[in-house]
Amino acid sequence: MKAVMKDRSIRLAVALAAGALFAPVHALAQAQSSAEEARLIEFGKEIFKSKAVCQYCHKWDASGDQGYGGNALSLRATQLTPEQMTEVVKCGRPGTGMPYHDRFAYTDKRCYGYTREEMGKDMPPAGNDFLSNREVDAVVKYLFAKDVGKGPATYEDCVDFWGKDTKQCDPMKK
Ligand code: HEC
Repeated sequence: MKAVMKDRSIRLAVALAAGALFAPVHALAQAQSSAEEARLIEFGKEIFKSKAVCQYCHKWDASGDQGYGGNALSLRATQLTPEQMTEVVKCGRPGTGMPYHDRFAYTDKRCYGYTREEMGKDMPPAGNDFLSNREVDAVVKYLFAKDVGKGPATYEDCVDFWGKDTKQCDPMKK
């Protein structure tokens, strides 16, 4: 009986020691992954803002806009999942002004099972620039981090997007 108890307490001690040893390693890994996440979101912002100029049509806060490119929907109010959004960014939306950003979209059947010939007059326009898978992932990540499901953008959001040295956000100042 005694021997069993001793065995148990040794096992407990070993488990505690291992926990103490691995906890900091785990915290470090977590800090690294959130730094990586923050970098990816920042990268996605540059794509939204400059490389793919999504903001021309969807506005800086992704709240959507009428005009250039048609009625660009609000991405703050979108019901799409990240997977569905990824597909729309890569393939555009047939029959609308939402452009595709995958260089090989409609060269084979990767987009909704259609080629350019089959798409005919519903063929969406090409984007301002083509995006790699990593760039598409980054812009989708950015949108879900900053815009999707959020209420109206605030002055702070505006400064966060445009930086401090601009008058862009002055009208939003309270
Ligand atoms: C030339 C204008 C234009 C540009 C540039 C543009 N979009 Fe769009 N986008 C549209 C229009 C128009 C629609 C609405 C399509 C429709 O009626 O279904 C749309 C729809 C979408 C949708 C579907 C939303 C939903 O709820 O169904 C997503 C997601 C989207 N755009 C993301 C982006 C991203 C990300 C970029 C940049 C990589 C981008 N768009 C660039 C015009 C544009």
